Amino acid sequence: MSEHLLDNFGRKISYLRLAVTDRCNLRCQYCMPAEGIKIAPKGVLLTYKEMYRITRVLSELGVDKVRLTGGEPFVRRGFMDFLKMMNHNDLLKELNLTTNGVLIANHIEELEQLKVKSINLSIDSLNKKKFAEITRRDVFESVFEAMEQIENSKLNLKLNVVVQSGINTDELVDFVELTKDKDIAVRFIEEMPFNGSGQKTNMECWSFEKILGQISSGFDAIEKLNDKPSSTSRNFQVSDYKGTFGIIPAFTRTICNDCNRIRVTATGMFKNCLFDDGVFSVRDFLRSGASNQDLKELFINTIAKKPKDGFVAEAKRKSKVAESMSTIGG
Ligand code: GTP
Ligand code: 5AD
Ligand code: SF4
Repeated sequence: MSEHLLDNFGRKISYLRLAVTDRCNLRCQYCMPAEGIKIAPKGVLLTYKEMYRITRVLSELGVDKVRLTGGEPFVRRGFMDFLKMMNHNDLLKELNLTTNGVLIANHIEELEQLKVKSINLSIDSLNKKKFAEITRRDVFESVFEAMEQIENSKLNLKLNVVVQSGINTDELVDFVELTKDKDIAVRFIEEMPFNGSGQKTNMECWSFEKILGQISSGFDAIEKLNDKPSSTSRNFQVSDYKGTFGIIPAFTRTICNDCNRIRVTATGMFKNCLFDDGVFSVRDFLRSGASNQDLKELFINTIAKKPKDGFVAEAKRKSKVAESMSTIGG
């Protein structure tokens, strides 16, 4: 058996999205209800040691990029120590974070010393009042400040903007305008039906075309950039601007053809795809006494069966009951 993570469609898996917690200090409307979601009791979460071990095994099979997500990663106690532990894994090239930025400010210098190449920061409005409406928390200033601090650091910065019909759709041009003088990438994400309501959502998704149309109306010259293989976003630049912008067609288009990603949730469910319900519990497997070799074999065999297009069944996508992105890990 070759020890590589190749699926039956020839895709090479090299990117793990690992959720360190399902908790969050915000309550973004598109992610969870005001009262929050039912969070997992502590004992069912993977421990940091288990996460390290899972990552190590996967890295021996070719995974060289890990993105730590949540919930919000910084709300889990000991997260910075965990990052330092992960930094010892010499097989990892990149150890990136997706965060809401509320708790990051004091850690930026330390992050610069680690293999953290890039921070993806969620910020859905540049207006303090609207930001508070979307996140149901009054923390705009700290997030904006974190954004500026990251921008002035060695770390690359991407802003994640979930496009919400009638809520922040009047700000798309303002977000792109940030890229005039800032060397950042602003990425507009099509809203997906993951709001933690446990019911089907009736959100109106602004599509890739609609988002691009709205942005194009604000600028004379926009260039299409070459996208890196496996990029989630289709990327653009306003002529002469320092930074770039991109659109992630997360809902209307399949980005599965060159998908290189797998996921492990905070409770240790292994996911071949954002849209599957979890294939097996890595946590239970580890806790039953499995060896690293057992784990390798299970990963190789499971990943081989990664669905060609986890998203293709329109009906499945539309009828999907809304889990929270905070539980899924983004
Ligand atoms: P990079 O490593 O910078 O390319 O980050 P990323 O785009 O993989 O990660 P990020 O955590 O910033 O996610 C941005 C958005 O893309 C989130 O809304 C994710 O849920 C979405 N996304 C990430 N991977 C997939 C995927 O495989 N399919 C779909 N449909 N959406 C995805
Ligand atoms: N649709 C699209 N993107 C979402 N995110 C969270 N919930 C949703 C949703 N329902 C985004 C967050 C974060 C990223 C990991 O996923 O804004 O930046
Ligand atoms: Fe928290 Fe991110 Fe969900 Fe907002 S989208 S509530 S920041 S996990």
